[in-house]
Amino acid sequence: MKQLVQRLSQNRHLERSEYLRLLAGCDHELLKYINECARVVAMTYFGKAVYVRGLIELTNYCRNNCYYCGIRKANSNVARYRLEKEQVLECCRLGDSLRIRTFVLQGGEDSLLDDAFMQDLIKSIRRDYHHTAITLSLGERSKDSYQALYKAGANRYLLRHETANPQHYASLHPANMSPDNRKQCLRNLKQIGFQTGAGMMVGTPGQTLEHLVDDLLFLEEIKPHMIGLGPFIPQQDTPFAHEPSGSVEITLLLISILRLMFPKALIPATTALATLAKDGYERGILAGANVIMPNLLPIEYKTKYIIYDGKEAIHITPQEQYKDLKRRIESIRYYLSDSRGDYP
Ligand code: 5AD
Repeated sequence: MKQLVQRLSQNRHLERSEYLRLLAGCDHELLKYINECARVVAMTYFGKAVYVRGLIELTNYCRNNCYYCGIRKANSNVARYRLEKEQVLECCRLGDSLRIRTFVLQGGEDSLLDDAFMQDLIKSIRRDYHHTAITLSLGERSKDSYQALYKAGANRYLLRHETANPQHYASLHPANMSPDNRKQCLRNLKQIGFQTGAGMMVGTPGQTLEHLVDDLLFLEEIKPHMIGLGPFIPQQDTPFAHEPSGSVEITLLLISILRLMFPKALIPATTALATLAKDGYERGILAGANVIMPNLLPIEYKTKYIIYDGKEAIHITPQEQYKDLKRRIESIRYYLSDSRGDYP
């Protein structure tokens, strides 16, 4: 098995059957080994830097009804909010004071966040913070819309593909959502010039190891600049309320596999990982991740953006969270970088 890992390191690619063997046969010892290999690769490109993305969750309105997600349209227990431009800029000021050089504007698919609103917001942020990257994560939009947002000054776009397997996709989403459209969105984003992020959840209901291999092969095709993956965690008001969470270990294994496949990619240690494991951020970084995404929202809004239960750090202020993350990252002898952390 170690030979398989070495071959992946050298070729940055394995055959389907080999990926499957790696996923199926990974024990505790091999996980330790591949985590180390991935860490060494990350180190050669990024040293001990961990890039920081300040997350601003703009809206929890969503037109979609994904079966796993707590802010799905049908969830009437959500107190919906949409930030005003001035509130977003306040989050940016706070982020800037913490020397954060990427803002991530994330939200549900909210029809009122139209191009005009977003262009104005992006231009305002761009005007005040020349040296800060603007990342969008607003779901599926038309190619024209993506183009307009890019032109307004956004640099990056995150759109997880969630699962590359069409049958599995159909078991996680209502019939009006199409895996082909989502994949096409990713191709459009790349073509426009965005640094583009894809990714999947680990351990969603019905997911098999074959599905995860489909994800790896799809990512090989897309060649994303950023890859976000975290374990599935049930949310009590969704159809998947009683499903088990995804595995922390498989998430860490996949982070390492992806680091070996994509040495220069920006890969976060996600909040979902940190929610399931108390040392999740640290273990993510030590498995080859190189990004963390602290939240810049005031507590009153953070507590309304509950896509899964138990979400990490929603009851502490952004300043407290940043301080805590800094301490944790430094405890494993890495440091929080104050650079933009673009794709090298
Ligand atoms: N558990 C874990 N991750 C989730 N996401 C949505 N719902 C859940 C959940 N219940 C992820 C999706 C989405 C990202 C913002 O959060 O992958 O793209």
